[in-house]
Amino acid sequence: MNSEFDAADFLQHDWQQRPRVIRQLFPGFTDAIAPEELAGLACEEYVESRLIRERETGRWSLQHGPFSESDFTRLPNAGWTVLVQAVDQWVPEVAAIRQQFAFIPQWRIEDVMVSYAADGGGVGPHYDYYDVFLLQGSGQRRWRVGPRVAPETPLINQDGVGILPDFTSVEEFILNPGDALYVPPQFAHWGTSLGASTCYSIGFRAPSVADMLEGYSDDLIAASPADQRYVDSTPQRPRQPGRLDADDLTATFAELQRRFADPTRFQRWFGGYCTRPKYPELREPLEVPLQRDALLQALSGPATLQHNAGSRFIYQSLVDSLVLFVDGEAHDLPAESEMAVALLCVATTTATIGADKLSDHPELSDCIVNLVNQGSLLLV
Ligand code: SIN
Ligand code: CO
Repeated sequence: MNSEFDAADFLQHDWQQRPRVIRQLFPGFTDAIAPEELAGLACEEYVESRLIRERETGRWSLQHGPFSESDFTRLPNAGWTVLVQAVDQWVPEVAAIRQQFAFIPQWRIEDVMVSYAADGGGVGPHYDYYDVFLLQGSGQRRWRVGPRVAPETPLINQDGVGILPDFTSVEEFILNPGDALYVPPQFAHWGTSLGASTCYSIGFRAPSVADMLEGYSDDLIAASPADQRYVDSTPQRPRQPGRLDADDLTATFAELQRRFADPTRFQRWFGGYCTRPKYPELREPLEVPLQRDALLQALSGPATLQHNAGSRFIYQSLVDSLVLFVDGEAHDLPAESEMAVALLCVATTTATIGADKLSDHPELSDCIVNLVNQGSLLLV
């Protein structure tokens, strides 16, 4: 990433506030995945992919993958784009792009979607609910950016493609390889390829309140045995047998509030929620489980630990403990291991963690042995 990019200034003036072009955010950027390899991923059954075409001006259509090779050979020279979701889960070089955005907490990043568009191709005018950096790979794209849309602005569903009907462009930019356009949530935008080009969308996550309510409630429900039940607040003869008195609910409502308003419980739940793997099947347990001594011995040699590309690692420092979350599961660790855990959370395929950091922390090394054995960490 360009060392002249001033992340503090960006966070203060642009992030979540206004679109911004950052010229040469990645100087000398070349594609982290070849178009043929991207097309290959779009043919895989377990990868999420889409093909969007503008069949005639303003008439869009969508096809979901997996595709076959002939779907691509039959395409015209212009007016289409193929988009592959979460390429970072499959391609370490694309995962390495995600790691560059370390000026924003890692858990906020959802995935890196990659699109390859023929001349004139794009997904049409629209808006998204999340922040996104649109990083230009090979070729050029014209981006038109509109204002922030009004709340609940509908997108018209055109054969599965969400199109913003009254798109007005406020700014227009042509991106070259290594340039990036940052678009905050709910700002209208529309990219059109000038010749063939690729785009890497580093998309951030903004869970909906409805999803969080559902997930957190499920967690609370799991911790609420059937014998914990309604109790009368002030048992007394009712004024009317047919009346539900607000007083009858006072104690129950207070109990529900008490359960809900537990910040530590919420933080723990959220840690698991935001590290749940998108593709759990990407994790392959070791056939022959490793023991702690063997791990330490391997790490004192040339071996290193790397994240399984599909596994998410974050940690939280809670009131009296340190919790490492991997693939939706919580691992309680001693507070003193924070520096090593922090390093482990960013030990991607490019950064690594060595044995010297681990031998001081037996609980952490046991935890790492489990993570290696279940396939969340790879010893390479
Ligand atoms: C694209 O890669 O063309 C679509 C990205 C977006 O507009 O969000
Ligand atoms: Co978009």
